[in-house]
Amino acid sequence: MEILITDQSVFEINNRYPQKYKLHEGAEILIFDDFLTKPDEYRDLLDRMPAFNSDFFYKTASPGWRQIIPYEFYFHIEALLSNYTQFEVWVDQAFTNIYRSRMPCKSKAWLPHYDNKEYALNLWLCDGPGGTAFYTWNDIYNVNHFIEDVRQKIFQHHDEGEFLYEEFHGDDDWKMYHLEPVVYNRAIFYSGNNFHSAHIPDNSYTDDWRYSLVLMGG
Ligand SMILES: [Fe+2]
Repeated sequence: MEILITDQSVFEINNRYPQKYKLHEGAEILIFDDFLTKPDEYRDLLDRMPAFNSDFFYKTASPGWRQIIPYEFYFHIEALLSNYTQFEVWVDQAFTNIYRSRMPCKSKAWLPHYDNKEYALNLWLCDGPGGTAFYTWNDIYNVNHFIEDVRQKIFQHHDEGEFLYEEFHGDDDWKMYHLEPVVYNRAIFYSGNNFHSAHIPDNSYTDDWRYSLVLMGG
């Protein structure tokens, strides 16, 4: 067994003061640039964790692969963001998203979705094109603004099958109003109930992963 010799500073936060941007009427995002003090070391540590298919432990529409991240790896981040949530303890799920272009999916995972969580943090631990795209569905940007039967009509048709992830820019119903780019060591914090999806240009991330830490809850 390999014993890791590291020190606690690998979990330290460098920038506690985000910029706040309005993406859409009612939809804000917090951006923490240069978020961790030692992002390279943190990434090295995460790289040692096992990765699974995203739906290995429970059903999720998320494609790709993920690592399950223990509490001790993110409690500083949870505490910092509790300034912006209604709860001190707000993280329900902590994992990495490990994606690449044209990855296999069991549904049309490139279409916008909502997380069913009020709070989502995404910490980029890679560089590359694309990012997180935010969409409206016929001018509606948040799932809570739907009446229930409309929501069901849109999201219940999970076309299950074998697909390859597509570069998506919108269609007749979905309009992209913002693309938040991948920036190494940048954390973004937004409402998971605002419609979004991973925007991954075709032929990108062929040598390295599109890799981020995700915390969700609320
Ligand atoms: Fe999501």
